[in-house]
Amino acid sequence: MSEKKESRDWYKEAVFYQIWVRSFCDGNGDGIGDLYGVYDKLEYVKSLGVDAIWFNPLYPSPNADYGYDISDYCDIHPDYGDLDQFKKVLNKAHELGMKVIMDLVINHTSDEHKWFKESRKGGDDNPYKDYYIWRDEPNNWDSFFEGKAWEFDSLRGQYYLHLFAKKQPDLNMDNPKVREEVKNILRFWLSMGVDGFREDVINFISKKEGLPNGIGFLPVIGSIHNFKDGPHIHEYLAEFRKVCDEYGAVQIGEGPMTTVNTALKYLSGDTKSMDMMFSFDHMTADCLFTEYLHRPFKLIRLKNALSKWQYKLAGKAWNSLYLENHDHPRIISRYGSEKYHRESGTALATAYMFLKGTPFIYQGQEIGMTNIKLSSIDQYVDVSTKNNYIRYHVKDPIEARLHRIHISSRDSARTPMQWDASENAGFTTGKPWFFVNPNYKDINVAAEEERPDGILNYYRACVKLRASSKTLLRGSYKEYEPGNPLIYMYERRLNKTSYIVICSFSGEAIPFILPKGFAGHSAKLMLTNYPRKRKQGEIGILPKKGLRLSPYEAMVIKMKRV
Ligand code: NOJ
Repeated sequence: MSEKKESRDWYKEAVFYQIWVRSFCDGNGDGIGDLYGVYDKLEYVKSLGVDAIWFNPLYPSPNADYGYDISDYCDIHPDYGDLDQFKKVLNKAHELGMKVIMDLVINHTSDEHKWFKESRKGGDDNPYKDYYIWRDEPNNWDSFFEGKAWEFDSLRGQYYLHLFAKKQPDLNMDNPKVREEVKNILRFWLSMGVDGFREDVINFISKKEGLPNGIGFLPVIGSIHNFKDGPHIHEYLAEFRKVCDEYGAVQIGEGPMTTVNTALKYLSGDTKSMDMMFSFDHMTADCLFTEYLHRPFKLIRLKNALSKWQYKLAGKAWNSLYLENHDHPRIISRYGSEKYHRESGTALATAYMFLKGTPFIYQGQEIGMTNIKLSSIDQYVDVSTKNNYIRYHVKDPIEARLHRIHISSRDSARTPMQWDASENAGFTTGKPWFFVNPNYKDINVAAEEERPDGILNYYRACVKLRASSKTLLRGSYKEYEPGNPLIYMYERRLNKTSYIVICSFSGEAIPFILPKGFAGHSAKLMLTNYPRKRKQGEIGILPKKGLRLSPYEAMVIKMKRV
């Protein structure tokens, strides 16, 4: 057993930081974030107390879907640097004590990948002929990003399948040669020293035989049962797991619409192929399936989703915890309040960072970045944002259509990182590739560094507290007052030690009578986002008359249980 293999479990005590490099930091002044910028900011990342970095795709790509359309799996996009620069970043991250995981996108490639260019040519003795999914006649599936899921290719004289954008043809994973290619990609990066992978739409890689029609009248989701958790998924993933086992690499699956029961198949038992899965349930507390189908935020939906995963995975599998990533608008603008920016940003951090599992922090989340509101659809760049705009609600007035984009676009998570109050938020000395959020003068890293009670230092305190306690790392989870529409309360417990997390999601001050069994107990305040109102470290008796919670007040208290 290699040294790495023995230590694969490191992820259970880790906190990850996610870097979407194009908007993180520009090191060479061309307006695009790159690995030179990342190199310079690694100390900052480390200062958060995190243990690992997940990089979104860094590979060459025509950027039809900003890196998720890969044209070469074994190189670095020239916009971001080269393999040497990547190795420098990797080594420095390791020296600073941080692991590095890459994004693995194998459901599809770019149409500019050599395999697809060759496959288009057809021909019986063409080795790439069956690398993709070609048909003479399309079925009725919709793509997620651009109309129907089939595009006619005039060179080959056939249609190819693309579950996402037209420029993202789906690979044919039933072809053993394609699976060998995937294993070679894994080996390429693992032998360089990367520590694992986040695996893109991994539950879609095995399609139902014969590609049967979906339920016609349901747009997009009507065909999902034909490719989600498909017939050979666990066989194929077992092959990839074997390679990762050789290196002790961590695997984190992204599985859109994964239910907790199907996730357990990926995470445990004979079919275990992943160490964690990203759940989506808790990301629909203000929408249906996707942020574009908005509905008002309800805390109860969020609590139900989080608790469901906490309870069902207990003792069987490990949770990944996140509130933001490059695919979702900013969380303060969604589940919190821009008015109570600091308060709700810190309350949201408290609500998820102490759950059982591995927290992920997305760049900018730690300083409370918020959604951007661009004035015209032409200013947006994300393929799915544009698609939603031209396809749905087209008869609504422009303002209403733009409002839907403002609250749902992935571009809000992709604006340049706000480092300081200087021009372009300190992201670049050139012309930024995308709009900087105009609130950067107030919301930026440098300003947050000066605010002891700000969101940034609160994240640091959360990471530190979590790492310091076996109870928070390994203890059980129990939710209290699940029916309370304004307060999220849960307990983490190990033997006789308990940590109680209480978070108000109300913009008003509200009373909170503690549930049975708490009043009269002695407890220590371990963390508060109202340090002027309550004294951290103070030991007191939990009051019978309850607590008066200020807007978005959050706290973590420690107590002994008998
Ligand atoms: C999920 C990725 O996170 C997203 O950014 C991408 O557009 C789709 N998969 C397609 O690769």
